[in-house]
Amino acid sequence: MKMEDKKTVLTGIRPTGNLHLGHYFGAVGNWVKLQNEYNTFIEIADVQALTDNFNNPDKVRKNVRELALDLLACGIDPSKANIFIQSRIPEIAELTVYYSNLVTIARLERNPTIKTEISQKKDIFGNNGESVTYGFLGYPVSQAADITAFGGSLVPVGEDQLPLLEQAREIVRKFNSIYGETLIEPEHFLSKIPRLKGLDGNEKMGKSLGNAIFLVDDDDTISKKIMGAITDKNKIKKDDKANPDVCMVYYYHKLVSQNNIETICKECKAGKRGCIDCKKELIENMKEYLRPIKERRKYYEDNKELVDNILKNGTNIAKTKAEYTLKKVKKAMKIDYFE
Ligand code: TRP
Repeated sequence: MKMEDKKTVLTGIRPTGNLHLGHYFGAVGNWVKLQNEYNTFIEIADVQALTDNFNNPDKVRKNVRELALDLLACGIDPSKANIFIQSRIPEIAELTVYYSNLVTIARLERNPTIKTEISQKKDIFGNNGESVTYGFLGYPVSQAADITAFGGSLVPVGEDQLPLLEQAREIVRKFNSIYGETLIEPEHFLSKIPRLKGLDGNEKMGKSLGNAIFLVDDDDTISKKIMGAITDKNKIKKDDKANPDVCMVYYYHKLVSQNNIETICKECKAGKRGCIDCKKELIENMKEYLRPIKERRKYYEDNKELVDNILKNGTNIAKTKAEYTLKKVKKAMKIDYFE
């Protein structure tokens, strides 16, 4: 298939911390597969990260590199996918301005993802969201610009991103209905595990929830975390029968111990598997599972210039695409003076 016949996958991620298993199984692992079939663009969304970290530029800057390393470690292949930095593409910001006319403030305030985030970030947005900024409330508009700038027709994201995608689709429809068919309406693509549970049994693994295994965690940290994972609380003694379906250790075994999973399940139910041994087995399998990821990370950590070049190159390619879209948009909006 020729490059121009392929559909475009566009996705993004904020550089605010290292990736954990939730990111890997919920999104990035999926991108690694998609890059083989689609024109793939992966945005390091530093502008979006600044909307709730505007007072912490050092954090965002440091994490741009960390995120690039994590993505490459997961298997994003720079010869197949373009990793680029959002702020290096001002065309996105310009599109955001034009799209901002197509969305009401009331609609943004109703966006479930935005509502949840505001309630989680009381330290910067106030107890009742009274200090929410224009920039933060508007980031779904900028995300619509991210997606459309690259002609993204498929957006592989975790479940929490669906309301943002819906908002982008609405903006695209409105744009096309007013200015004529110009933009591609994107569709979402959920991974098999759109949301991964945390070590504590919480519905979501999250950095701020303190229940995550990070891809950069060393072996010792992984062991400690898994030893502390929640198991069936009704199982007291080693040979008690237990229910694997309420056990987080079994839940992660399902991800990384595939070839032995039926035995694990049977033994657990029959009371033939102590939790400590079961955890030790998971620790070994998890370390094994993460080994290639860590090896790739080490390679890129040792080749700083290579990573810089990957980002520069990915950004250059992305910029050309965004310039093309912006041109089309301005023409449709009749602001293509002197062109
Ligand atoms: N909102 C996403 C996150 O919080 C990041 C993101 C930015 C994104 N632009 C995007 C995701 C475009 C999908 C498409 O991680």
